Amino acid sequence: MADYDVIVIGSGPGGYVCAIRCAQLGLKTACVEGRETLGGTCLNIGCIPSKALLHASHQVHEVHENFSKMGINGVEPDVDWTQMKSYKDDVIGQNTKGVEFLFKKNKVDWLKGWGSIPEPGKVKVGDEIYSAKNIIIASGSEATSLPGIEIDEKTVVTSTGALELDAIPSEMVVIGAGVIGLELGSVYARLGTKVHVIEFMDGVTPGMDAEIARQFQKILTKQGLEFTLGAAVQSVDTSGKKAKVTYKLKKDDSEHTVEADTVLVATGRRPYTDGLGLGDLGVEMTNRGQIKTDDHYQTNVGGIYAIGDAIDGPMLAHKAEDEGMAVAEILAGQAGHVNYGVIPGVIYTHPEVASVGKTEEQLKDEGRAYKVGKFSFMGNGRAKANFAADGFVKILADKDTDRILGAHIIGPMAGDLLHEICVAMEFGAAAEDLARTCHAHPTYSEAVREAALACGDGAIHA
Ligand code: NAI
Repeated sequence: MADYDVIVIGSGPGGYVCAIRCAQLGLKTACVEGRETLGGTCLNIGCIPSKALLHASHQVHEVHENFSKMGINGVEPDVDWTQMKSYKDDVIGQNTKGVEFLFKKNKVDWLKGWGSIPEPGKVKVGDEIYSAKNIIIASGSEATSLPGIEIDEKTVVTSTGALELDAIPSEMVVIGAGVIGLELGSVYARLGTKVHVIEFMDGVTPGMDAEIARQFQKILTKQGLEFTLGAAVQSVDTSGKKAKVTYKLKKDDSEHTVEADTVLVATGRRPYTDGLGLGDLGVEMTNRGQIKTDDHYQTNVGGIYAIGDAIDGPMLAHKAEDEGMAVAEILAGQAGHVNYGVIPGVIYTHPEVASVGKTEEQLKDEGRAYKVGKFSFMGNGRAKANFAADGFVKILADKDTDRILGAHIIGPMAGDLLHEICVAMEFGAAAEDLARTCHAHPTYSEAVREAALACGDGAIHA
């Protein structure tokens, strides 16, 4: 008899959700985690701590920008960085302990230590070897750096070090205008740091709907972030008092240097599969270092599955969670499935940016006939009352059938607003379906309805 029906390696959002669902579906399940707390990158050094710092720094921004406009005077924030970090650590603790509680509640065994797979059907943790009918790898990802740039997590940091800086820097260079660079760049800009973002491509957040990306860059520039686009960072020299970042502009090959106390390298992440023993097992990998799987998350080795950042697709916690639930259902004999056409993406800056489905550029490339419904938060009463009228909702719908193909929002609570559109897309809804749904007044969500109306006979408040 095998010790377990399922052993999940890694307890990030992919792994822990998968383990809980396996247990709920009657499979005897364990989850291997070597970190001292459960929850993986997301809960310990990623999504959750960064959201705590984004929340705290946003309050500072509100005091500076908007309090006096509302007649609240005499508030001068005195930021206690040590306390802000300890608030963030407390939030992490509440979340990681929450997962531990859920494991106990669902009878998932936590096998403490780093796991490896000595042979199919076996998982080694420390000196112990456990047998499992199925092994699910949910080992996540790690930050990448650029050739020749050494990360010390003090002066030259990844997102991990950026959450733990000893002091708020006076100048920070951010390499990469992707999600991490802009979220953490925003945190420090709001706390008074002069933030300079250097990006290789000609726009921020490559791959995002271009109209939204342009507006996003404009708003962030207004908030004090400086951008150098079309620039490839060459080196970072940390031998002096300040770090010197050298970059080359693509347009004329000219070389420039900028100094900073802290350099945040946010140039992407790669799958983390070290120490699992996949090479010896003959598990097939892609040329991008991802574990190759079929539609059922099965690798080429029987009984070994993989999900989340370690396989193909966007490196997003919720994509990993959905894959975790799908593979659990498949192993329990159900029809687990993920709809990759409706995976939302959110950037938690202020305003937030949220996207689902196709961008306008993708629809053009596909030669698809589409229509655009747009609505600015300037026409939304609630947004105006809350100093949150920067931004707009954009819905892309099929020109003939009106079916929603994509949606992109920059504005207040965009990440939450997006989900009514996600649900609509799951049901194959038309923009008119959203437009005919009564939306409470005054809410931000009225802007979504107005954008849907704009796909038809027109918005009311535009
Ligand atoms: P990213 O892939 O989003 O952005 C990296 C950026 O660095 C790109 O814009 C790229 O063009 C630029 N770059 C690469 N080499 C460069 C060079 N030599 N000089 C200048 N720029 C250069 O990667 P990021 O921000 O590190 O995030 C990693 C992963 O984590 C992503 O998959 C992201 O989706 C995920 N993540 C998601 C979050 C969310 O959903 N809110 C939050 C944080 C991370």
